[in-house]
Amino acid sequence: MLKGKHIVLGISGGIAAYKSVMLLRLFVKAGAEVQVVITPNGKEFITPVTLSSLSGKPVISDFFTANTGEWHSHVDLGLWADAMVIAPATASTMAKMANGVADNMLITSYLSTRAKVFAAPAMDLDMWKHPSTVRNLARLKADGVDIIEPEAGELASGLSGKGRMEEPQNIFDRVASWLVSPQPLLGKTVLLTAGPTYENIDPVRFIGNYSSGKMGFAIVRALSDAGARVKLVCGPVNLPTPEGNIDRIDVVSAREMLAVCEKEFPHADGAICCAAVADYAPASCASSKMKREKADTITLELVKNPDIAATLGKMKRPDQILVGFALETDHEEENAIGKMARKNLDWIALNSMREKGAGFKVDTNKITLISASGVRIDLPLMTKTEAGRKMVEKIFIDEKADS
Ligand code: C5P
Repeated sequence: MLKGKHIVLGISGGIAAYKSVMLLRLFVKAGAEVQVVITPNGKEFITPVTLSSLSGKPVISDFFTANTGEWHSHVDLGLWADAMVIAPATASTMAKMANGVADNMLITSYLSTRAKVFAAPAMDLDMWKHPSTVRNLARLKADGVDIIEPEAGELASGLSGKGRMEEPQNIFDRVASWLVSPQPLLGKTVLLTAGPTYENIDPVRFIGNYSSGKMGFAIVRALSDAGARVKLVCGPVNLPTPEGNIDRIDVVSAREMLAVCEKEFPHADGAICCAAVADYAPASCASSKMKREKADTITLELVKNPDIAATLGKMKRPDQILVGFALETDHEEENAIGKMARKNLDWIALNSMREKGAGFKVDTNKITLISASGVRIDLPLMTKTEAGRKMVEKIFIDEKADS
């Protein structure tokens, strides 16, 4: 399965290092060539002899071999690798990776590699939650490292919580599926808005809608699986961030969503506006909770929210792809095409309101994709996960292949 693939397995000094022996075996059994690089502290937990016997290669730890003076080139190693897997990644190694502190072979190899990097953190629960680790983790994700999140469970300290390194089989599956599946969107960045927006009336009340964010998150997963880096700008939703190269920015109101999108869009190769943005917001937000006793009726003055998709449409460069959604009740196709033109979109995904099982909250959707150049693709009723994959395939992958 992995014949001909080159993997650098970086092991840093945590108790989970013993699990890396299993991971190494899985890679070797699958036919990969594995070069182990271990930090000086890593050697305290697992002996290089075990690792070199399994990998069939001397383990690299120092910049030089002590008795021969032979120099180990971290640059060559970095270029040789198809993937670098750092497991376990301790808090210290993550901090060094995030800040470029190149004081051992593992970090110099990390800084030199052009390969995809996976890191499987392992540490005690309080270390995992510490603001410093949280900061480093965010930075590594932004740098494109694919973080294989630790699990919750019993820890070496005797405490219980999140921090236990993911099981070797699961790490293997993640890395192997990346190595064997094509990543046509590697190096691309896509901005995506998802979920509803909430527009505050007073400190405890808002105008919102029932958007769950499920469709947007499904597209995020598909983009990430295809290798893209995703900037996910997300209204209030109750969904965990999918694993992968995803940078999530949580916002509440349409104006906040717009501000992030305006900042991020110039750095992206495309954007998908999937959010159900509130059309109007209260003209002002009361500074304290509005009292019920005061009046029998009240009138809220609402002002139109900015149109994020249309704003991005005005900013769009010829090399960027902009995609929007339409939810229409009548003259569906005509209205969707009109919307695409008004907002300067390249594609519009028309959600069927007629189909049972399509729309808000449910896990399925029926979408028709229409392009500004006249292509029309009717997708059948399918899960949002499948619909997300199809959308990414048709819009970002097939399109590239055609051009
Ligand atoms: O105009 P309408 O709301 O029907 O357009 C829907 C499309 O426009 C969706 O892609 C939605 O995300 C986007 N939109 C937006 N900002 C708004 C309203 C809609 O980005 N204020």
